[in-house]
Amino acid sequence: MSNEPIKLEAVKIEREGDVTFLILNRPEKRNAMSPQLHSDMCEALDWAEMDDQTRVVVITGAGGNFCAGQDLKLFFRANENDPKAWAVTLRDSHAWRWDKLASFPKATVAMVHGYCFGGAFTPVIACDFAIAADSAIFGLSEVNWGVIPGGLVSWAVTRVMGYRDALYYAVVGEQFTGKEAVAMKFVNKSVPLDQLRDETIAFARKLSAKSPAAVKYTKEAVRVVRDMNKEQAFDYLKVKSDALSLNDPEKGRQKAMKQFLDEKSFKPGLGDFKR
Ligand code: ACO
Repeated sequence: MSNEPIKLEAVKIEREGDVTFLILNRPEKRNAMSPQLHSDMCEALDWAEMDDQTRVVVITGAGGNFCAGQDLKLFFRANENDPKAWAVTLRDSHAWRWDKLASFPKATVAMVHGYCFGGAFTPVIACDFAIAADSAIFGLSEVNWGVIPGGLVSWAVTRVMGYRDALYYAVVGEQFTGKEAVAMKFVNKSVPLDQLRDETIAFARKLSAKSPAAVKYTKEAVRVVRDMNKEQAFDYLKVKSDALSLNDPEKGRQKAMKQFLDEKSFKPGLGDFKR
């Protein structure tokens, strides 16, 4: 199924061939996440999942910033006396930032520039990959205004950062740059701001050239085995490998075997088979 991108109030969708950008679009509020933005991101991800043209999703923010975290006025204060609205907002906020993104069946990349604060850490971590501008500013700013990194933030940061770094930035509330984020393995790499979009697209194209089924099964496998013991992982990975062989519409394994063993036309150690 191929669709025209849907139109949403607080999220913009842009295509670059098979790479689809989902752009948090409240630049005048530094893309702070309102209930509308959460609901729009749920819709945008559902759309991108079903869109045949989309092979890779890039999450980013409009106007030179990634996201200033939850909207203090519209996410927190406006819902203070409205438990039903709060329940819906919490559901949407959690759904896109973790559940939908972390289990998204296509490759996902967070492209971070400018500010990235608080609740915006969750989608950065839920994405498979993160590329930042050298100059990006990250901050677990919650402590600075008297709250804890809630939602899933405290849990998520310890999935990617070492314990000392996670505790330091959560408790001290100090900012760190894109370059420092690479050193902490919070993002995969950082590049000069003027190269960020091109570098992200070049990386996304590497992903989209690969077998979609192999990408999907590999990311699911790596994510899930982290919480298993060795015996569970061994069994799960055996079944997962069989499932990939059965369910790959491109029959990648057979093609690759033929190209390497019979045709001698590619070397798996050095690049992709011809799809
Ligand atoms: N919630 C609500 N509004 C926000 C937020 C936010 N998180 N961040 C920025 N805005 C609004 C500002 O109130 C301002 O609105 P106004 O023009 O109506 O006054 C507008 O966005 C621009 O913000 P400025 O502060 O004027 O912009 P500046 O570029 O100087 O600073 C910065 C940007 C550093 C992001 C600053 O706005 C800030 O500290 N925001 C809060 C960041 C934060 O701590 N986020 C974590 C929230 S908690 C959580 O996510 C769980």
